[in-house]
Amino acid sequence: MNTAAPPPRDNQGQPFPRADALPKVTGAARYAADVPVPNLTYGTLVGSTIARGEVRRIELEAARGIAGVLAVFSYGDLNELRTPRFSTSSFTSLAPLRERKIWHDGQIMALIVAESFQAAEEGAAAVTADYAQQTPSTELDSPGTQILEAAGKVAMLDKDPCVGDFDRAYRDSRVRFEAEYRTPTQTHNPIELFSTTAVWSGDELTIYEPSQAVYAWRAELAWQLDMDPARIRVVSAFVGGGFGSKGPMTPRTAIVALAARRLDRPVRCVVSRAQGFTTQPYRAPTRHYVKLGAMSDGRITAFSHEGWELTSRKDNYAVAGTTTTTRLYGYGSVASKVRIVKADRQTPAFMRSPPELPYLFALESAMDELAWELKLDPIELRRRNEPTRDAIEGKPFSSRHLLECFEEGARTFHWSDRLLKPTSMRVGDWLVGLGCATAVYPTHVGPAVARVRLSADGRVRVQCATHEIGTGIRTAAGQVAAEELGIDPAAVTVETGDTLLPPAPVSGGSNSTASVCSAVQKACRQIRTQLAPGGGRMSLIEAFERLGTPFIEECGQFVPEGAGADALEKLYEGQAELVGGPEGPQLEFAFGAEFVEVRVHARTCEIRVPRVLGVFAAGRIVNPRTARSQLMGGLIWGVSSALHESTMLDPRTARTVNRDLQDYLVPVNADMDAVDVIMLSEKDDIVNPAGIKGLGELGNVGTNAAVANAIFHATGRRIRTLPIRLEQLL
Ligand code: MOS
Repeated sequence: MNTAAPPPRDNQGQPFPRADALPKVTGAARYAADVPVPNLTYGTLVGSTIARGEVRRIELEAARGIAGVLAVFSYGDLNELRTPRFSTSSFTSLAPLRERKIWHDGQIMALIVAESFQAAEEGAAAVTADYAQQTPSTELDSPGTQILEAAGKVAMLDKDPCVGDFDRAYRDSRVRFEAEYRTPTQTHNPIELFSTTAVWSGDELTIYEPSQAVYAWRAELAWQLDMDPARIRVVSAFVGGGFGSKGPMTPRTAIVALAARRLDRPVRCVVSRAQGFTTQPYRAPTRHYVKLGAMSDGRITAFSHEGWELTSRKDNYAVAGTTTTTRLYGYGSVASKVRIVKADRQTPAFMRSPPELPYLFALESAMDELAWELKLDPIELRRRNEPTRDAIEGKPFSSRHLLECFEEGARTFHWSDRLLKPTSMRVGDWLVGLGCATAVYPTHVGPAVARVRLSADGRVRVQCATHEIGTGIRTAAGQVAAEELGIDPAAVTVETGDTLLPPAPVSGGSNSTASVCSAVQKACRQIRTQLAPGGGRMSLIEAFERLGTPFIEECGQFVPEGAGADALEKLYEGQAELVGGPEGPQLEFAFGAEFVEVRVHARTCEIRVPRVLGVFAAGRIVNPRTARSQLMGGLIWGVSSALHESTMLDPRTARTVNRDLQDYLVPVNADMDAVDVIMLSEKDDIVNPAGIKGLGELGNVGTNAAVANAIFHATGRRIRTLPIRLEQLL
């Protein structure tokens, strides 16, 4: 058996190898900054070295004097750029070259364009600035922040979910538990650096840039440049890691585009690893206060979740994971409140499982703490609180196999060997701990259009402006076309990542496989109707001879139930309306159970993770190989969020300290040992026609809590602030 290609269970497709495996491993795949462009120039950004204040004077002459430097763009030079519109398409409303006020560390102050990358870098290094500096507010607890209730002020939350009389229910419960939890700032570090390449041909603009949302970017870019979107093409054939960081556009894109027009030459600006920490989105730090009240038998009667999330002075952003945590178990009464804390930082944005990763850390840690208060096995606590309906609105679940995930996981992980009492398991000098947690992620689906062409020779071409961000969407979409048309997947090619193709939603929120495959399925069924109108069977050759055409091409326009009447029109305009999760008549979520074994050295407190297992139920699995790979990546990132990742800021200056991959820790092979994934067979025809729930984000939800719970089990020490480092255990 090949563990990378798990044999399919019921309602799972074949584990075909990735369609783009060969070009990727041989280096033939062209990422945005690899696209050859004649007559290219090179741009380097200059960022501020303060986080709050004003630029009094910027010294650009030295940069202009460097051999090879062609132009320097700074304050006032690109004034025709319109202010970005803060939304899911643009992560900030800051127009950095229009105002001299500095809102965050590394704010763009200039773009140096040169004949060579080296000259541009040298030019950027020669720029100096005088500032009128002010003391910034750096973190959630810093003085000078502004704290606001999030509901109604952020896109992700209209109203704080609540039901019943929480205070009373909490007061009346037999066992009460409350605690505060914290998660740090995290910065996306996809291996592919961020970049923009702008190429003009007359008044037509082509942008090559890694993007998770080419149609949305085209619309936002058209706004910022005051252009007809039809004259803009955004190309993003391969993306070397997205995770949310390439979801919304940054102000750089329009700056580089306008610089290229001024110079009448293409400009390529690759953002350095260090600048990625300040010019791109990131995951905001969060604080949580959780209260759980229960009866002596473990039945929860009261749950309260308060969250605080850092955002910028400019924009109100929050992920508001209470929408998920308040619906996860049967609770009785529920209260929740999310607040935003405005500080002198860049606006945060999505990072993989944006709401669930921090909010489930709090809830799943608290569940483990409550289980220990009750001297109950933590899986048993979840069993006793398994709901039949949503705690907030009483909606049914479209499907929910959380307990089945825990049961199969417990068997596979030999959970029954676990002794309930912390510090009771030991191998030599190593304290052994076993922890578990729930994974959950809302099922999203959006409108999508796919063009499918079947040729008489049996070859198939699928075209859709979705994005290959490492997820394997080309493989999955091709596989669905092959299944629908009854041909070999090797005969299918899938084209993605280009606004010349029919539109798809942002490749985010784990919606792409469901949305795109639903559109592909629809197009293929239209082709089948043409091939054999009566539903009869005949060979392809016969069918094409009868039709007298060399190929059949169909556009499948998929609009999910619950989307607005204008959903397709808006999709073409770059606004994809995602539905699902808790919004519709039933709750649509994917679930999982995660298990972690840690070993903590009794003397040095070194933490090792020898075993991680995730068991997931996520509807139809199109390809168990690519699905397993995503879930495994999620588990590894989950361990990273527990033990490794944290963007550190100097509290005096609000400047990032660890801005490279040497100091920003991520797990490497030596940090991980056995990472196993099991995908349960699950059928859900309610979520979408393809029956797909999506799993790109599911895998890293709850892992951080499972690690913290395992560390408690090993050591008796409860760590409620991430990341967990050995100094917290010493
Ligand atoms: Mo994902 S953080 O929705 O790209």
